[in-house]
Amino acid sequence: MFGKAGGMTYRWGIAGTGRIASDFVDGLRQLPDTEVVAVCSRSGDTARAFATQRNIPHAHSSYEALASDPNVDIVYVATPNSRHRGDSELFLRSGKHVLCEKPFALNSIEAESMVATARHEGRFIMEAIWSRFLPVYVSLGEVLATQPLGHITHVAADIGFVAPTQKAHRLNDPALGGGALLDLGIYCLHFARFVLGDHDTVVAHGVLNDQGVDVDATYTLGYKSGATATLRSTTQHETPCIATITGERGVIHVESRMHRPPGFRVQIHGEAERYYRHDELGQGLRHQVPEVHRCIDQGFIESPRLTHSETMSYARTMDEIRRQLGVRYAVDGIA
Ligand SMILES: NC(=O)c1ccc[n+]([C@@H]2O[C@H](COP(=O)([O-])OP(=O)(O)OC[C@H]3O[C@@H](n4cnc5c(N)ncnc54)[C@H](OP(=O)(O)O)[C@@H]3O)[C@@H](O)[C@H]2O)c1
Repeated sequence: MFGKAGGMTYRWGIAGTGRIASDFVDGLRQLPDTEVVAVCSRSGDTARAFATQRNIPHAHSSYEALASDPNVDIVYVATPNSRHRGDSELFLRSGKHVLCEKPFALNSIEAESMVATARHEGRFIMEAIWSRFLPVYVSLGEVLATQPLGHITHVAADIGFVAPTQKAHRLNDPALGGGALLDLGIYCLHFARFVLGDHDTVVAHGVLNDQGVDVDATYTLGYKSGATATLRSTTQHETPCIATITGERGVIHVESRMHRPPGFRVQIHGEAERYYRHDELGQGLRHQVPEVHRCIDQGFIESPRLTHSETMSYARTMDEIRRQLGVRYAVDGIA
């Protein structure tokens, strides 16, 4: 049986030394019963520099060394998208639980393999869609549960920023799993599913860079209820980064940036507008961590709040959107 022994702390290892790894360590530090015990890098110097700056006791010069570290119970995988499967499976097979950055994997074949590995090893894995656990999203979920809009007819969401243009940057390079859809579009797909559940159809249009990854795409999801969702992700433009939910009785406006908004407004026809504000207190990435700890304590291999089947649905949808856009990764079609 796994889980936290009474009175012990949750001991985290960090895989990767990039921007989000740094932010996540800041988040872990704000939680009780939580220790950051080790970090790994492809380079010993980089690992030591990261560890020294953040007062982390162990610095490993390979990902395998972190996997063999008996002091680590849970690993946060913060490497480029192309490594998520390999890194997550390495840690799962070494007996660690895993929180894997979004997108979970490059495609649904990889995602399925990661889920199967977690099941086989009896270890927990979750995709780090941190929006879901932010107080503002919890509040939005509570409001939606009261069905204030009546029948929901449309969801719109966009997310975009101007990314670095170097060909080798992970957002531009297909070998690293580049593309706006996997990095940013996942937040729009998450939002649409959060509001409307599973879709029925998808139609995508977009523009690719000269290396063949999407830099600007719009996709429309259709639902059996008759509702539609229009979603856009781009690494070429600053976009409003807002979301709206339209129903027969009114509209909900989710403020920018829609994956971590300060608040949302509920406008019901003929009623005073209601505004819900939930300032992020501390590092927002930390809100998903108590769910990881709770699941591990209970011996779960998946979170009931963000299930493997939900993660699989994003992976399959992104496969289909990429197919329509003509974006192919080298691992596509390979089990
Ligand atoms: N939740 C969020 O808000 C959020 C925001 C940004 C990114 N992300 C996700 O987090 C992951 C990492 O993004 P990031 O922005 O932190 O990326 P990043 O700054 O480029 O860092 C990635 C790290 O991965 C390691 N790495 C291992 N193999 C690599 C390779 N072949 N090429 C480049 N780096 C390699 C590197 O550390 P070593 O050299 O030390 O091994 C590097 O520091 C991505 O999956 C991304 O989608 C999430």
